[in-house]
Amino acid sequence: MSNITQSAVAAPLAALLCIAAGGVQADDFTDAELERWQGQFMEVVEEGRRLWGTEGLGSNRLVCGQCHPNAANTHPETYPKFQKQLGRVVPIWEMVNWCIRNPLEGEALNAADPRMIALQAYMNYERRGVAMEPGKH
Ligand code: HEC
Repeated sequence: MSNITQSAVAAPLAALLCIAAGGVQADDFTDAELERWQGQFMEVVEEGRRLWGTEGLGSNRLVCGQCHPNAANTHPETYPKFQKQLGRVVPIWEMVNWCIRNPLEGEALNAADPRMIALQAYMNYERRGVAMEPGKH
């Protein structure tokens, strides 16, 4: 099949898929669904808030909240960005691991660890409404 024929087939197909995806809008969700999802989200935020003030993420007695009360100075809205401690552009969970390894003297968490997800949900929730500024220092 030539490239021209391929795109003649692919373009309408892609358009159809976009129309299908466009059909999934917030208006199509029921109130019960939205309430259930928000409830699950807030449970994860609350777990993050709990972890923020609880010993055990590291090996010493430090907790995140001692240096970052209410997620202060975590700046989730600036990620991904270049971090001098790691020498490259990183997502925020790598900086969470930097703090777990260094001030907390603990073992890094996997990106998909439920505790890592909860910590990120808490930081982002505390900073809700702040404009996104990826890369900013
Ligand atoms: C003893 C103090 C201390 C503790 C405890 C601590 N941090 Fe940090 N945190 C720092 C310092 C210092 C930096 C580096 C600031 C910089 O140079 O960007 C930092 C940076 C960060 C950043 C990046 C901030 C930015 O502006 O980009 C995040 C996110 C973060 N910490 C999350 C956490 C989390 C989550 C915990 C608990 C697991 C934690 N920190 C515990 C001191 C601490």
